[in-house]
Amino acid sequence: MATKVTVVGAGAVGATCANVLAARGIASEVVLVDIKEGLSEGKMLDMFQAAATCGYKTKLTGVTATDAEGYKATANSDVIVITSGIPRKPGMTREELIGINANIVKSVVANASKWSPKAIYVIISNPMDTMTYLTLKSTGLKKNRVIGMGGALDSSRFRCYLSKATGVGIQDIDGMVIGGHGDTTMLPLLSKASIKGVPATQFLSKKKLEEVAAATMVGGATLTKLLGTSAWYAPGAAGASVVDAIINDTKAVVPCSVYLEGEYGQEDICIGVPVVLGKKGVEKIVKIDLTKEEQEKFAASADATRKVNNALYEIGAL
Ligand code: 2OP
Repeated sequence: MATKVTVVGAGAVGATCANVLAARGIASEVVLVDIKEGLSEGKMLDMFQAAATCGYKTKLTGVTATDAEGYKATANSDVIVITSGIPRKPGMTREELIGINANIVKSVVANASKWSPKAIYVIISNPMDTMTYLTLKSTGLKKNRVIGMGGALDSSRFRCYLSKATGVGIQDIDGMVIGGHGDTTMLPLLSKASIKGVPATQFLSKKKLEEVAAATMVGGATLTKLLGTSAWYAPGAAGASVVDAIINDTKAVVPCSVYLEGEYGQEDICIGVPVVLGKKGVEKIVKIDLTKEEQEKFAASADATRKVNNALYEIGAL
């Protein structure tokens, strides 16, 4: 079955996401959109020039679009990935980007939704939980169709640092990060991390595990410091993995930012919790038992995220 994905924003994250979608053959067609003349056309042509070498079969299209009309080539997308906006610089928090990114994301979603009435949205733009909330509220889409990918990325970073600390191959490590996608709001679930089903607590001391959690939480900030700008390989790949679960109906359990209506004790917020992803988008919110400490940290994370959401009203984005 033909499947079409639009990625909006041809910066490093969007282009990486498009590249992973093509390289792994996740969708049969990928359209990359940007406001900067020539950028997405150039990146998609570059990818096509790699197709013979790498064996990509995906149809690749790049378009410049500054208004709704420009989104014509994205029509009837199954999934729309939003990476638009500016990335953070060293020393900045993701939350500080809200003033610039909120209006960009809002207008991009409005333009894209005109052409793809059935699409499911995967939000990568920061502050990710708040941009997910903004997408849901500004479009009135059903909650199963709007998904923030932060937990997928943070969990991938968690597994990376668990692998570094234990010396065990990453494929045998399982770990999940819930809560907000912020340096102080994310919550790596140490109690649930495991290696081939064996609790990570049997491999690492409490102190070592806490160091792993701390490294995970600043995983993005560490890269921003090293690179001078925000990361792209892991964020782009995490976005593509969420698309894969949706488009190929894999029913993968992935922590993603989704709208809660009482689950985990929270309402009217998009924040990271484990969900089952499939062709309807969010097919189920998975309820897992949290320790008392984890419950408290999750509630604090939700409070902090809600404060950032409130800024959407203050700046007139909602
Ligand atoms: C990151 O954590 C882009 O928010 C993204 O790298």
